[in-house]
Amino acid sequence: MRKKTLSDLAARAGDRIVVRVDFNVPLRDGRVADDTRIERTLPTLRRLTAAGARLVVLSHLGRPGGRPRAEASLRPVAARLGELLGEEVRFSPEATGPEALARARALAPGEILVAENTRFLAGETRNDPELAAAFAALGQHFVNDAFGTAHRAHASTAGLALAMRARGGEAVAGLLLEREIRFLGDALEDPGRPFVAVLGGAKVSDKIAVIEKMLARADRVLVGGAMANTFFRALGLETGRSLVDEDGVELAARLMDRAGDRMMLPVDCVVSPRIAPDAVTREVPRAEVGADDRIGDIGSATRRMFADQLKQARTIVWNGPMGVSEMPAFAGGTLAVARSAAAATASGAVTIAGGGDSAAAVRAAGLADSFAHVSTGGGASLAFLAGKPLPGVEALSDAQGTPRRPAGE
Ligand code: 3PG
Repeated sequence: MRKKTLSDLAARAGDRIVVRVDFNVPLRDGRVADDTRIERTLPTLRRLTAAGARLVVLSHLGRPGGRPRAEASLRPVAARLGELLGEEVRFSPEATGPEALARARALAPGEILVAENTRFLAGETRNDPELAAAFAALGQHFVNDAFGTAHRAHASTAGLALAMRARGGEAVAGLLLEREIRFLGDALEDPGRPFVAVLGGAKVSDKIAVIEKMLARADRVLVGGAMANTFFRALGLETGRSLVDEDGVELAARLMDRAGDRMMLPVDCVVSPRIAPDAVTREVPRAEVGADDRIGDIGSATRRMFADQLKQARTIVWNGPMGVSEMPAFAGGTLAVARSAAAATASGAVTIAGGGDSAAAVRAAGLADSFAHVSTGGGASLAFLAGKPLPGVEALSDAQGTPRRPAGE
């Protein structure tokens, strides 16, 4: 990474540091339902507090549209952070202004203040420079550890980095952001081969840039999920009442032409007239999908075929589930890929699960520790894999010389 990281931050004990994290986590009944994203920022927060820094933590939650909404408050998230750290975490109901500043100034070295949802403020998503300057006024330096939001040029991400630098402070990557960029970046730039990409999810047109990038870099691209239906349609196969990205059919045909045998599509599918938790399913070769069927998963022959490819791989990048993985009746294909990739890790492959649904499936299968890296970014990892610039990273202070690796990794 050619950007400054935590190791470059010449902060002194007692410095106030603004840390942007991505605590956009699911809440259920007012409590955090999945704290993975919170947990993954702990190394950065602990490293800073251990050095005596005073931390002002900023994040968005949901899409409240520029005004306060009780159900999108970060208060329960701050409470969960406190539980995970085993320490009191303070909370500020405002993210900017005199009261927020007063609370930030009142912090003792090593203490943490979580400020309320940055998206309660109208200027956040339009990257308002005044709002960015107000965020920057909360501290002397900025640490961005919000990989999940790095693809957004918002006031508390890219805007804050530039505003902090304009004030003479540093804007550096936190340990999580650095790790994400290193794993995904190395996989794209210098992958061990064979490099196998597994792509799933619903729409071809959403993932076109990623498919193209993977076709340029990977030795094999395995396609599953509803996205495969669009390729089936392009092959002239019956897809019944399955989800097909109609606008993507021509594109799918062109991609197949270009890819030749580097792209592998499912050869069989799990189908049912209904996609529902209690659906009665059957497996059919892809040429035998009926007019009333809906395709919900890849079939057993495909799972074996993909497993063979994954077994030989030295690098695996996986983005998108192979079926409707949140329903057990259609989760087998996604689980099979997760297990094959986990087995490949054990034999030395670098295995990376992109964020969003595939990361959730890996966690649900209890296999998160069996991957080299499970990304915390959904849209961000997709943008990065597609080769798009990440504004939250671009705006950080530039590093001189060769990139450093965090100590202990
Ligand atoms: C995510 O969950 O992908 C990030 O937190 C970004 O959220 P957004 O799509 O609402 O910007």
